[in-house]
Amino acid sequence: MDNFWKLLRKPVFALAPLSGITDSAFRRICKGYGADVLYSELASSTAFAYQAQPTLGIVRFDESERPFVVQLFGHNPEHFAIAARFITREIRPDGIDINFGCPMAKVFKRGGGAALMTNFPLAREVIQSVIENTHLPVSIKTRTNVQGFDLLSFLEYIEDLDIKALMIHGRSYAQRFSGPNDIETTREARARFKGTLLANGGAMNPASAVELLEKTGADGVGIARGALGNPWIFSQLDSTRNGGSPAKPPRDEVLKTAHEHARLSIGLKGRRGIIEMRKHLCWYLQQIPGGKKFKREAVKLESIEDVAALVALAAEPFSS
Ligand SMILES: Cc1cc2nc3c(=O)[nH]c(=O)nc-3n(C[C@H](O)[C@H](O)[C@H](O)COP(=O)(O)O)c2cc1C
Repeated sequence: MDNFWKLLRKPVFALAPLSGITDSAFRRICKGYGADVLYSELASSTAFAYQAQPTLGIVRFDESERPFVVQLFGHNPEHFAIAARFITREIRPDGIDINFGCPMAKVFKRGGGAALMTNFPLAREVIQSVIENTHLPVSIKTRTNVQGFDLLSFLEYIEDLDIKALMIHGRSYAQRFSGPNDIETTREARARFKGTLLANGGAMNPASAVELLEKTGADGVGIARGALGNPWIFSQLDSTRNGGSPAKPPRDEVLKTAHEHARLSIGLKGRRGIIEMRKHLCWYLQQIPGGKKFKREAVKLESIEDVAALVALAAEPFSS
C-alpha cells in the first residue's frame, strides 16, 4: 500500500488527535475546510484484544475523511499486534499512529502514552509489533522529554524502524499542555528523522502555525486546540500556501458550520451527540462578536431544533 504521507502536499496541516473532540463529525467539518490528514482520538490497543465495542465507535470513519489515521495507545506489544491486524482488516484507515505523549493518569499509570517513552526496549517492541502486523504506514506522536527520557535519544534507539511519520508535541511530560514549545528539539529531530515530520504545540492561529513551521523546519504542523470552534484555521492555512492572507469567516458561516456540525454529531451519536456538541457550540460562539452571551443556552441544548433556534438568535445578537 502507498505511503500516503509522501503523497500529501506540503506543508502538511493535520488535525491532531484530541480525545473526546476529534470524532467523525468534527473530523468531517475540518476536512471540509481543507485539513490534509485527520487523526482519530486515541483508542486503547487493549480494548481490541478484548473486543470492546465502544472503542470501535472511536475508530470508525467515513470515506470522506481520508487520509485518516487511527491512533492507538497502550503498553502491551501483543495487544498492539491484535489491534493493528483488526484495524488493518476491518477499519481500513490510511495509517496507524502510536501514542507516546498522553500524560493523563489513567493512561500513564498503566505504562501507556508518555510512560511508554520511559521504556525504550518496550517502546521499540510496540512499534515493531505494529509494523509487523499491518501493511499501512506507521507513525508515532511523542513529547520532547518524559521524566528525563529525551526524544532525540529515543529517535536514535528506534532509527532503524520503518516509521513513516512523526508528530512532535514540543513540550515535556512535566509541562502537560502549556508552557514554551521546545523548538530546538524539533529542529534537531528534523535532521535525524527521515520520514514526514509534523511540529505540534501552540499553533492556535494561522500566524503561530506558520511560525512553528518556519522555526522548526518541519514538513507540517499538527493543529489541536487551535481548531476548536475554529475549523477554518485549515482553509486559512491553505491560503498561506499561495502567499494569501487568512480571512476570518463571516458570522453566518460560523453559525452555519456550528449547525452542520451539530447535525452530523446527532446523526452519528444520537443523544450523546447533542451532549458532546454543547462544548463545541460554546467554542463556536466564542468566535463571533457578542456570541459569549449565548453560552448559557448552548450548555442546555437538547435537540437539533434547539440548535437551530440558538443559531437564529445568535445571528441577530443585537436585535432583541
Ligand atoms: C483535551 C485534549 C485531548 C487530547 N487527546 C489526545 C489524544 O487522544 N492523542 C494524542 O496524541 N494527543 C492528544 N492531545 C494532545 C494534542 O494532540 C496536542 O498534542 C496538544 O494539545 C498540543 O497541541 P495544541 O497546542 O495545538 O493544542 C490532547 C490534548 C487535549 C487538550
